[in-house]
Amino acid sequence: MAEESSSAAAEIGQQKYYGHKLKEMSRRAFEDLENFWSEIAENLVWFKKWDKVLEWDPPFARWFVGGVLNASYNALDANIKKGLKNKVAYFWEGEEGKTRTLTYYQLWKEVNKFANVLKKLGVKKGDRISIYLPMIPELPIAMLAAARIGALHSVVFSGFSAEALANRINDAEAKILITADGLYRRGKVIPLKKNADEALKLTKSVEKVIVVKRVGLEDTPMTEGRDYWWDDLMKDAEPYCPPEPMEATDPLFILYTSGTTGKPKGVVHSTGGYLVWVWATLKWAFDLKPDDIWWCTADIGWITGHSYIVYGPLLHGVTQIMYDGAPDYPAPDRWWEIVEKYGVTALYTAPTAIRMHMKFGEQWAKKHDLSTLRILGTVGEPINPEAWKWYYEIIGNDRCPIIDTWWQTETGGFMISPAAGIDLVPLKPGSATFPLPGIAVDVVNEDGEPVKPYERGYLVVLAPWPGMLMTLWRDPERYKEVYWSKFQPNSKLKFPIQPPAVYYTGDYAMKDEEGYLWLMGRADDVIKVAGHRIGTAEVESAFVSHPAVAEAAVIGKPDPVKGETIVAFIILKSGYSPSEELRKELRTWIRKVIGPVATPEAIFFVSSLPKTRSGKIMRRLLKAIVSGKQLGDITTLEDASSIEEAKRAVESLRKSMGEGKS
Ligand code: WT7
Repeated sequence: MAEESSSAAAEIGQQKYYGHKLKEMSRRAFEDLENFWSEIAENLVWFKKWDKVLEWDPPFARWFVGGVLNASYNALDANIKKGLKNKVAYFWEGEEGKTRTLTYYQLWKEVNKFANVLKKLGVKKGDRISIYLPMIPELPIAMLAAARIGALHSVVFSGFSAEALANRINDAEAKILITADGLYRRGKVIPLKKNADEALKLTKSVEKVIVVKRVGLEDTPMTEGRDYWWDDLMKDAEPYCPPEPMEATDPLFILYTSGTTGKPKGVVHSTGGYLVWVWATLKWAFDLKPDDIWWCTADIGWITGHSYIVYGPLLHGVTQIMYDGAPDYPAPDRWWEIVEKYGVTALYTAPTAIRMHMKFGEQWAKKHDLSTLRILGTVGEPINPEAWKWYYEIIGNDRCPIIDTWWQTETGGFMISPAAGIDLVPLKPGSATFPLPGIAVDVVNEDGEPVKPYERGYLVVLAPWPGMLMTLWRDPERYKEVYWSKFQPNSKLKFPIQPPAVYYTGDYAMKDEEGYLWLMGRADDVIKVAGHRIGTAEVESAFVSHPAVAEAAVIGKPDPVKGETIVAFIILKSGYSPSEELRKELRTWIRKVIGPVATPEAIFFVSSLPKTRSGKIMRRLLKAIVSGKQLGDITTLEDASSIEEAKRAVESLRKSMGEGKS
């Protein structure tokens, strides 16, 4: 077995353009698994060292078995012990102009106090805490406090609706909910606590609610005996809370993400493997330096924020920017103003944001001194070469490498990415380049066999890695089915770790003749709206929960700024007829059921949908129609008239909206 895995390892990293060091490291990661990962894991503080680096019982991996550590201790106490007590952890800036600065020591104090607050409210190791907050310091404080006492946090993006929040609270059976009175968005105030109260009507597990005063809304509803103001609880909290010793294989958090069914998946990440992975990937990809000013513009409600605003950067003891607001408020140069003000050195954002700034025009960036930037990054969807070039030239002034990081909620951290901290390969706009050390991937056809260069296939991962999800919350069967059952191991694939197993990413990809990887979007029924992952099935089930809707088909339509937007084809129940009013009502309905992230751009009323003879909706055809492409193979189509009808619906709406002019 050992021989087999080392020969496979030797073939990984054979690509022509792999830098020498990167190639060596990639090889070592598999040939010398124990030592390779032990050396890296030594960068964290362990209360007890691990006995074994990996136990692999496909598809379940246990990393750093026997190791004991605490995430909040590593993010805070360890840095203070290193002499970073007075270093700034977060420069926080609110949309309305308010600012706050938290040093590592100040953050540590807040986290300790809040950990004691949670304890006093009866939270125990293994309990779940839901967090529904805007981008304010209390968000990382609450997460780190949960981690300090061994409770699992489940952060729910503040743009999700009450119902979406309720579903996530119920699935995790959270005991505590942490929220805020309201939040600012483009100058408007959104009353978050009112949403939270709506959610709480649909849940039973929550015992206590903790409310941060973000806005100072006068009429925030508070339920006696259940709801408490954050500040009141913090006033008399004890100053020190000992960090709970956690097994490396204990879960650190749950984060819900969309899949191909109506029910979001509770992705569970481990304590040891996850922390080692975010530590390593941030260093490898961005070559993080002690005096960096790191700014990841994501919301902490997504994995990007968990890994690269909370855990990764804090483990490295760097100074960060945290911004709570819209990129273009009060003016389109808000981001560039922040870069200049704090001297940001590393900026990590999404292609959709870059395209939005491109649209505003380069004059906004040109108004500011961006010369402190040394490295730029992107994540969330494939970056189109035009946006890449604009980012490189206008923001980076032709000086900063662009680190295009491919990864997923499930992978915990970067998987495929240029590695400025190891060996930067020549960049190609639109390619995430090569896998990081410890990552083995391939591109395969329907039969799970490798495809030729330039042939599109499915991206698969061929070995476990430290940051991989442990399972889906209380649903190991779904975990196996969704990620590990589409492809079976076969002799044409090289598995660097035995026994073999194939992780299905859900993404299309191809390799070029130099082995560079090009990610080509989702291969499943998941769409990416402004980088946010939305399951078509989730939106469809939200539609059919409306009394007027009999059937719904939801697809992604290519969009020059957002990447994709949501388009729905709706069959109404008898007794209802299409109208502009109903269209509006359905839009509002979706915003209410899922949240503003899922707002459909267009809704088409039809009387039938293109289906196969076995009754499966052919979304591919609808997609072709809305994007004006060739239909391709329609031999399995049951009823061709549905196509004509869909075409007419799209055409008439296009005319009424005056599309084609823009
Ligand atoms: C999906 C994962 C990972 C944090 C943000 C999104 C797409 C992500 C890239 C990239 C091409 C990318 C994939 C992936 N994706 N990064 N650099 N190039 N596609 O996390 O919501 O879990 O979405 O985002 O389709 O599967 P997520």
